[in-house]
Amino acid sequence: MSGDKTDAADEPEQVAGNGLLHRRLFLTQGLTLAGALGVAGQASAQTALPKRPDWMTRQGAGLSGYGQPSKFEEGVKRLTGQPNPLFPSVGSTRTPLEKLNGMITPNGLHFERHHSSVPDINPDAHRLLIHGLVRKPLAWDMSALARYPMTSVIRFIECSGNSGAAKRNVPQTSVGQIHGLVSCSEWTGIKLSHLLDETGLADGASWIIAEGAEASSMVRSIPLETALDDVIVALYQNGERIRPEQGYPMRLLVPGCEGSVNVKWVHRIKVVSEPGDSRDETGQYTDLMADGRALKYTLLMDVKSLITHPSVSMKLAQPGVYEVSGLAWSGHGAIRRVEVTADGGKSWADAELSGPVLPKCLTRFRIPWSWTGGPATLASRAIDDRGNVQPTHEVAIARYGEIGAYHYNGIQPWAVAQTGEVANVRM
Ligand code: CO
Repeated sequence: MSGDKTDAADEPEQVAGNGLLHRRLFLTQGLTLAGALGVAGQASAQTALPKRPDWMTRQGAGLSGYGQPSKFEEGVKRLTGQPNPLFPSVGSTRTPLEKLNGMITPNGLHFERHHSSVPDINPDAHRLLIHGLVRKPLAWDMSALARYPMTSVIRFIECSGNSGAAKRNVPQTSVGQIHGLVSCSEWTGIKLSHLLDETGLADGASWIIAEGAEASSMVRSIPLETALDDVIVALYQNGERIRPEQGYPMRLLVPGCEGSVNVKWVHRIKVVSEPGDSRDETGQYTDLMADGRALKYTLLMDVKSLITHPSVSMKLAQPGVYEVSGLAWSGHGAIRRVEVTADGGKSWADAELSGPVLPKCLTRFRIPWSWTGGPATLASRAIDDRGNVQPTHEVAIARYGEIGAYHYNGIQPWAVAQTGEVANVRM
C-alpha cells in the first residue's frame, strides 16, 4: 500500500527527454509506481490462480549430482553462427546477453572461440613450463600448482572481433548474436608473477610468449610489465574447475586484454626480449589501416556499453514504465558512469550502476523509462575511470579504420517503434 500519495509521486519527474526517469526511482517510489503503472488486472490475476497447481499435487524430481536449469529455460543457449562444414569445431559461440541479467556469465554460457577444437587434456599429464630468459626454467604439474596461494578476481573477457557485425552492418538479430563475444566470470588461480619470481628473470626479459596446448597452438605475446602486474594462471571459473572449452585445466587470464591473449590450455611460457610476431598476431588480431599498414599488439579492449533490455528483436507489450538495463566495461579500468538516451542522443541521463563496480569487469547499469507509446531511440554511452568515453559509430570507425574487424566499440542504438518492436539502427 502506498498510503498518502502526492501528485509528484504519481508522475515522476523526467530527467531526460522522451521519458527517462531518475535512476533511483524504483528505490524511492517503487510501490507507488507499480500502482500507478496500470498493472491493472494484477489483483484479479492473483485471485484467479489455481488453488493447488499440478506441481503441488505430486512428487517432483529428486536430488541430483549436478544441477541443471529448468526445462522451461531450454532456449537459453550459446548462439552459434554458420558453422564451417569442413571444420565444424572451429569458430565461435556467443553469450545470449538478452536472456541474462546481473554481471556474471554462467559457465555453460561463456562465449567460445576455437581456432582448432577443444583438446581433451588429461590434467595429470599436463605441465606448465616457463623457460627462455629466466635464471632457472621450471615446469609444474597440477599438484605442484595447487599448493600455491591463489587469488580470485571478477573480470570480463571479450574477443577483439566482438561487435564486428555492428561495425559493418545493422543486423536485426539479437544483442547476443551481435555483441555476445563478451562474458564475465570470477577467475581463481595463481598470479603469474609468483611463478616468474621462482624462475627468476634474466637480462633482456621484456615480453612473454604464451602457447596453448590445442592442435593449432595459439601463440600470443604479452608485455612483461603486464605479465608481472595482474595476469593469472586460472584454474577455476565461478568456483568450479575451468570448463574444457575455456581452457581446462588452465588458461591465462590477462585482464582487460583482447580474448585471444587469455591463452587457453596454456602449457608453455617463454620469456623473451621481443614479441613473437606469431601467426596469431600477424595473420589476424592486427588492425588493418586505410594506408595498408596494420597496428600490432593493440591488446587493451576499449570502453563500451550496450543496452540488453530492451534490445533488438524484443517487443514491448504496452506503454508504461520499463527498466532499461545493460552492461558496460572497459579494459582500461572501472566504469565511472553510464549515460542513457531515449531520444536518439538529444538528451542523456545517468544510469544507476549496480555494484560491485570493479575494474576490467562487466558492470550492470539500470534506469527507469516511461514509454509513452511513441517512437523512441535508446542508447547507452559509457565513461571509464581513466576518462575514456565510448565513441559514436563515426568516431569508432575513424579510430581503427573501416577495413578491420577488431576493437569496435561504437554506441549501439535501438529504435522502439509505436508497435513496441525494437530494431537495430544507427544514430
Ligand atoms: Co587488438
